[in-house]
Amino acid sequence: MTKKILRQSRANRFIHWGTAISILFLIISGLGQLPIYKRYYVTTLPGGEWLGSFFEMLDLHYLAAGILIFVVSFHLVYHTLRREFDIMPKKGDIKESYVIIKAMLTGGKEPPAEKYLAEQRLAYLFIGVNILVLILTGIVKVLKNLEGSQIPATLVSASTHLHNLATVLLILGIGAHLVAFVLKANRPLIRGMFLGTVDEEYAEERHSLWYNRVKNKNKLKTKAKEVKQKTRAKNQSLDV
Ligand code: HEM
Ligand code: HEM
Repeated sequence: MTKKILRQSRANRFIHWGTAISILFLIISGLGQLPIYKRYYVTTLPGGEWLGSFFEMLDLHYLAAGILIFVVSFHLVYHTLRREFDIMPKKGDIKESYVIIKAMLTGGKEPPAEKYLAEQRLAYLFIGVNILVLILTGIVKVLKNLEGSQIPATLVSASTHLHNLATVLLILGIGAHLVAFVLKANRPLIRGMFLGTVDEEYAEERHSLWYNRVKNKNKLKTKAKEVKQKTRAKNQSLDV
């Protein structure tokens, strides 16, 4: 069996799938409020009736919004405290993305990469900004729905337009994210998002800078453990 290396921790997988699943329900329930399912007869399909109820859609939207806000807050606090910023975009990422995509399509050599490729960091920024816009404008929309709300009409209207625009951009972003896995070069990453580990050979070849960093860190950890064990054994023999 080929050797594996841990790429996505349990926390990362919880964040990824927590956002993905809550967003899936937010899209379904957001579109359900418009209401497009009745217009296109989706509600006449077996088991599709609930999609036509505005209040069921709104309750589902609120529930999924709560889960999304929790997961996003966890993501921001967790990685800031641990000082893990591998996925934050860097200067020159647009140019580097072009070089990587060209190499992927023409079979050329990609530049050595960190944990995330330049286009992955840009994808994170695009998806992340849209999610933040949806959360902020969503909160304004919730406040507007409260009894006796006095939110200015211009803010409500701006929030509604931005909420709708960010919905469209996010759906396009998710579409592009999924299309990326049609390319064979990206497919080994899918295993990592489900099981945590990816093939060591793949990591070494495609994310060499990250791979070497992890390997060196693991080597240092093993060495430190050995020294600790040796010191303990020495102290014990002195005690006797
Ligand atoms: C609402 C749906 C989703 C959202 C918002 C989302 C978001 C993200 C973001 C922001 C990243 C980091 C940037 C990147 O690597 O491109 C990522 C990585 C990833 N996602 Fe998703 N994702 C979604 C659905 C999915 C699905 C359905 C799959 C299954 C194929 C998937 C598999 C992955 C993989 C394999 C990675 C790469 C991880 C790595 O580099 O090790 N995602 N996702
Ligand atoms: C991925 C995230 C989200 C997507 C794709 C999404 C999508 C939508 C869509 C398509 C609508 C219907 C159009 C409209 O009324 O403007 C809507 C309405 C709404 N959304 Fe979201 N939304 C998301 C996140 C949120 C969040 C995080 C909140 C709350 C904090 C929220 C609160 C609301 C509210 C209150 C409404 C209006 C309900 C009403 O008509 O009274 N949304 N959303």
